[in-house]
Amino acid sequence: MKAVVINGSPHGDKGNTQLILGPFIEGMRAAGAEVKVFETRSMTVRPCQGEYGCWFRTPGQCFQDDDMQKLLPELLEANVLVLATPLYVDGMTGPLKMVVDRMIPLGEPTIVSRGDHCRHPGRGSVKDRKMVLVSNCGFWELDNFDSLVAHVQAIAKNLDAEFAGALLRPHGPAFKAMLDQRAPVTDVLDAARDAGRQLVEQGSIASQTLGVIGRPLLPRDMYVAIANQKMPKPRKQTDNRQ
Ligand SMILES: Cc1cc2nc3c(=O)[nH]c(=O)nc-3n(C[C@H](O)[C@H](O)[C@H](O)COP(=O)(O)O)c2cc1C
Repeated sequence: MKAVVINGSPHGDKGNTQLILGPFIEGMRAAGAEVKVFETRSMTVRPCQGEYGCWFRTPGQCFQDDDMQKLLPELLEANVLVLATPLYVDGMTGPLKMVVDRMIPLGEPTIVSRGDHCRHPGRGSVKDRKMVLVSNCGFWELDNFDSLVAHVQAIAKNLDAEFAGALLRPHGPAFKAMLDQRAPVTDVLDAARDAGRQLVEQGSIASQTLGVIGRPLLPRDMYVAIANQKMPKPRKQTDNRQ
């Protein structure tokens, strides 16, 4: 099984998203998957220009000579696509969305009916592709992810992939702090590792496992109080007017 992971956090492997993504990848690799990781922070990917050259002039090929040229062939062969992102204004980060937009060379221009919708057939030979979302966010509640999950589910439908689940870590910054303080939260890491293993071995992730990954780590009021207490004080405004 081949998996491609795209991490859209500007903090890459030093970020809060990575805290869940890291063990998830470990679990996939331990179960025998070949996993390739791409980080948008170290990629040059320009916005889609919408001229459809990749459909009509050079089918399957985008004219833009940037890092999508490395990613697209990997995506064609991937059985699993993992989108990893911090929640940014109720969605994915801009750089990750740019990468997703640039995936249209993976589809053909013709329109077919799939289920009850118009779709573009995909290129490549991989059948039964699966998609997984990994995300974390600053606010406390799990439902902050609702709009992002709906979006990624829609992307999966568009790409004719099965949405295989979302590893969601609300109050992500608290998770980092609690790990640093050796608080009893390592069950979350174990569950993320287990999710990777389950995906490869069973083709799905148990909802109980996803529940542990997203479980409350501390009461909401306590989180709000601690977060506000630790907030760096804004620097005094200097008057730059002359
Ligand atoms: C531009 C921006 C937008 C954000 N929007 C949200 C949001 O809508 N909801 C939320 O709960 N957290 C939001 N956050 C907080 C991040 O999701 C949070 O800090 C996360 O832990 C960062 O993950 P990272 O370290 O992997 O980048 C936002 C942060 C930034 C910088």
